[in-house]
Amino acid sequence: ASSTEIDISAIQPGQAIKAVFRKQPVFVRNLTPHEIEAANKVDVASLRDPQTLEERTKEGKENWLITMGVCTHLGCVPLGAGEGEVKGEFGGYFCPCHGSAYDTAARIRKGPAPKNLEVPKYEFSSDTVVKIG
Ligand code: FES
Repeated sequence: ASSTEIDISAIQPGQAIKAVFRKQPVFVRNLTPHEIEAANKVDVASLRDPQTLEERTKEGKENWLITMGVCTHLGCVPLGAGEGEVKGEFGGYFCPCHGSAYDTAARIRKGPAPKNLEVPKYEFSSDTVVKIG
């Protein structure tokens, strides 16, 4: 299986980029302290797919949210990584196909999608490079 290396050095807090991993979009997002706080304030038990931000990021690098850019409903590419910052009402990503809204931890909060955006296997090769896969 192939892996993909992504240079994250130019991604500012509050920005997300879209890359490609195994022919699918992957989102790399540098969360602001406010976005991290918003994610951590949510009552996890109330979530459709209960996960903490901590479980979805690497220890010490909770600002780097790395997910597949594939809506878990029917596979559209959600907005919020690079195209005019359309983040939807929960501040993360918004899928325009049928209105699924994801929060700042890319957890599903509203709409038909059953699951959070998937976190792929990845590791930090250095402070500025992430290897996905
Ligand atoms: Fe995203 Fe249906 S594919 S809401």
